[in-house]
Amino acid sequence: MKVSIASDHAGYRLKDRIAALVRGLGHEVDDLGVFSDVSTDYPDHAASASAEVSAGRSQRAILICGTGVGMSIAANKFDGVRAAAVSETVSARLAREHNDANVLCIGERIVGPEVADDIVRAFMTAEFAGGERHERRVAKIGALEDRTPNA
Ligand code: RB5
Repeated sequence: MKVSIASDHAGYRLKDRIAALVRGLGHEVDDLGVFSDVSTDYPDHAASASAEVSAGRSQRAILICGTGVGMSIAANKFDGVRAAAVSETVSARLAREHNDANVLCIGERIVGPEVADDIVRAFMTAEFAGGERHERRVAKIGALEDRTPNA
């Protein structure tokens, strides 16, 4: 599948490592940067990759900043994006199996490189479990995109 990958300055080293890992798993990687530690704003990079997922041009995205938190907050503003900030492998797997998450957010300042590798492997190999209750709940997440503001 096609996977868009992006980071801010706090995540670009891990982003380069993860891009290589995802290619090694047999996926097409769309590396949207950044490529240095020059300070940037994480919402810009969350937006570039999340737009690809929202438009259906990529099936998944992986976003890396200092904590993963800012990236996930920004990514979840995009229709159809279900982004999860994850620091361990069980949540990475369950984000796919229960939540059908399509965007993974990791903090380079939070997890070590080998933990990050395992998180990415778990996220990229787990499948949505489906079934009536998970499908109903994910559909309710989608319905929140259409609600009246503040209702
Ligand atoms: C940048 O210093 C840092 O705030 C950013 O990478 C991220 O952790 C935000 O959530």
